Amino acid sequence: MVILALTYKKLVDRDFRVLLAVEREMPRYEYVPVEVIERVTRMPSSHVKLSLDKLNKLKLLERRLGSYIGYRLTWMGFDILALKSLVDRGVVEALGDKLGVGKESDVYSALAPGGKRIIVKFHKIGRTSFHHIVKFRPYAAEKPWSSWLLIAKVSAEREYRALEELYKVGARVPRPIARSRHAVVTDYVEGVELYEYREAQDPEAMLEKILDTVRKAYLDVGIVHGDLSEYNILVTITPEGEEEPLIIDWPQYVEREHPMAEMLLRRDVEYVVRFFRRRFRVEADPEKALRFVKGEAESPW
Ligand SMILES: Nc1ncnc2c1ncn2[C@@H]1O[C@H](COP(=O)(O)OP(=O)(O)OP(=O)(O)O)[C@@H](O)[C@H]1O
Ligand SMILES: [Mg+2]
Repeated sequence: MVILALTYKKLVDRDFRVLLAVEREMPRYEYVPVEVIERVTRMPSSHVKLSLDKLNKLKLLERRLGSYIGYRLTWMGFDILALKSLVDRGVVEALGDKLGVGKESDVYSALAPGGKRIIVKFHKIGRTSFHHIVKFRPYAAEKPWSSWLLIAKVSAEREYRALEELYKVGARVPRPIARSRHAVVTDYVEGVELYEYREAQDPEAMLEKILDTVRKAYLDVGIVHGDLSEYNILVTITPEGEEEPLIIDWPQYVEREHPMAEMLLRRDVEYVVRFFRRRFRVEADPEKALRFVKGEAESPW
């Protein structure tokens, strides 16, 4: 089992109350003073101190020793709080393996109550850029730590809202299930990323389905993915045996009215058309495909 799930199991109610108190007070303090945590939790000081030591050892809180002792949440502490809320709401029953560490996310497989496989994606935007910025521009370290967690939360909210809208209009995306903080839960897609998919039964139909999703996003939802590639398309097989490409990874989308939208739409379309030509020898005209996704033509061919 993965460290996040193991760590979760070691926690008792008292520990969660302490984590919640730190989370709540973080916008006001770079490190939340112990006295404040005691006041907010309304627990005996000795209990709070035991919890704080434990949470610090488990790397869910980071301790500051200086003119005063204070604590802040780590990314893992933030993960645990999101997980706790998803468990309490009956969304997640068990956390499984880590499927990947993206540049800007950690993706886990999980089980819903009843045993259905689902996905929990923890957004970590700013995780790498933060270290980068601190290294080269020390003054940027003055940006409060809590704002990095907030940026991840906003990114998860964006992705979740986009998935909800897309799913509603019948676009091919994983079904969104729930969100907490920086975590987005969706259906698990049994399949492979398009870049690993070499033997297509019907590549023309697959390209058309992808373009149809790009079109629904643009025309019905009013957004452009902006990072479409063979890494953000999962190919699954329907019960009828058909290839079904689902587009994932939406937090960076832009609205149709955005000044870059046209450019990004063109780039997304040209990119997949080129990929299908190289990989599967599909002859499609990117200009026609672009007219199709913009609703100016009824077919991409
Ligand atoms: N619903 C899903 N079902 C199955 N696998 C998924 C699902 N969502 C994401 N994954 C897996 O996790 C990987 C990363 O997901 P996603 O692209 O959404 O995050 P990311 O932050 O862009 O990560 P990266 O930087 O690696 O692209 C995907 O490439 C895919 O392998
Ligand atoms: Mg991705």
